[in-house]
Amino acid sequence: MNAPAQPPRGFGLARQEEVYLAGVRGRKPAVPVAAAKLEARARRHMSRRTYAYVAGGAGLEGTIDANRAAFDRLRIVPRSLRDVSARDTSVDLFSRRLDSPLLLAPIGVLELAHRDADLAVARAASAEGVPMIFSNQASVAMERCAAALGDAPHWFQLYWSTSNELVESLVRRAEACGCEAIVATLDTTLFGWRPRDLDLAFLPFALGRGIAQYTSDPVFIRLAEERAREPQETGPITLGAVRSLVELAHRYPGAFFTNLRSPLPRAAVRLFLQIYSRPSLTWDDLAFLRGLTRLPILLKGILDPRDARTALEHGVDGLVVSNHGGRQVDGAIASIDALPNIVEAADGAVPVLLDSGIRGGADVFKALALGARAVLLGRPYVYGLAIAGESGVREVLRNMRAELDLTMGLAGCASVAEITADALAD
Ligand SMILES: Cc1cc2nc3c(=O)[nH]c(=O)nc-3n(C[C@H](O)[C@H](O)[C@H](O)COP(=O)(O)O)c2cc1C
Repeated sequence: MNAPAQPPRGFGLARQEEVYLAGVRGRKPAVPVAAAKLEARARRHMSRRTYAYVAGGAGLEGTIDANRAAFDRLRIVPRSLRDVSARDTSVDLFSRRLDSPLLLAPIGVLELAHRDADLAVARAASAEGVPMIFSNQASVAMERCAAALGDAPHWFQLYWSTSNELVESLVRRAEACGCEAIVATLDTTLFGWRPRDLDLAFLPFALGRGIAQYTSDPVFIRLAEERAREPQETGPITLGAVRSLVELAHRYPGAFFTNLRSPLPRAAVRLFLQIYSRPSLTWDDLAFLRGLTRLPILLKGILDPRDARTALEHGVDGLVVSNHGGRQVDGAIASIDALPNIVEAADGAVPVLLDSGIRGGADVFKALALGARAVLLGRPYVYGLAIAGESGVREVLRNMRAELDLTMGLAGCASVAEITADALAD
């Protein structure tokens, strides 16, 4: 990993100095530091459909609000006079020591935010030494991102397809391109009810966006070719239908005119929509995944301690407490509220990670205090990507890490091990 080394006075001070000195020369950060401003600026760089897709959630979006409200309710109680001149934000996670307890959450369809999409994120992850979790709905095939990451850590997030043959192929490819863990996302066996996207009648996958892991997969391609040989249903030819066809022909791998004439792209999209997830999945299916790979397996979307205990019985290696950023179940428990019971259920046997609602370094601190080993950063890095591509993602990561470093110091903690539940008010 070629991550920047920890500066002697700590990451937070170095980052402040960088920003304030640039200010003396008359330059303000192009990527806003304040979370609300970051989102507002990113919105100006996004189409209506993209912003709705990224920012939106399920139903009345009560879960999105709950994620933030729960973080806000938790209060840090800073301690005094504890020599915090040297601070260490590093943590151990599986076989790696990470400079900070941050990972990049798997986020699909990043091409909506920026044309360099996952590749820009991979370059930023590598430069900042932050592990990237490749989304199963990525816009760029995992092999290309892995090449951009070099030996920087990367994991693969799996949506469990109805085709076990495809699941196996995806896992084999993840192993071959150096992924160090498999994250099976459990909370998306059905797609959440998302009014913002429904009102715009926008599903990116239906236009061939965010399906690069599939269209680069030998098993998927074979299945799509078989499908393309079957008689095709054709709907009414409207202007919208022609536009969508042209967009699909542009997106699909290969030459535009060949794609336009070929039934394959449309067959691939239809096939994808049918097989990308499996609502019939049960705990018994985990044995298949366990039997496929020796890589650590994490389950993402765990919110109930009973599920955490069952997961451990099935030999999983880690849990990600997540409500998918409020995109799946409206009115769900906030991830940070679910965390303490899951940590108790895991009882130190496996690392517990958390996402959903992390917007600043103080949120990371709170999650660590409640027992998370590390957190996954979601929407904020997509906003950085939309504003400034690779450097936008880097800025967001650097700010998050700087704020964590300073919050630790100001709360009286010199290392992550010192961040415990008694750093929070009862
Ligand atoms: C636009 C968007 C796309 C996402 N795509 C995926 C995905 O492909 N796979 C997955 O496991 N989670 C996906 N997630 C969920 C994130 O991994 C993470 O759980 C969520 O963003 C955390 O919430 P936050 O961004 O509000 O902090 C997505 C989230 C967003 C916002």
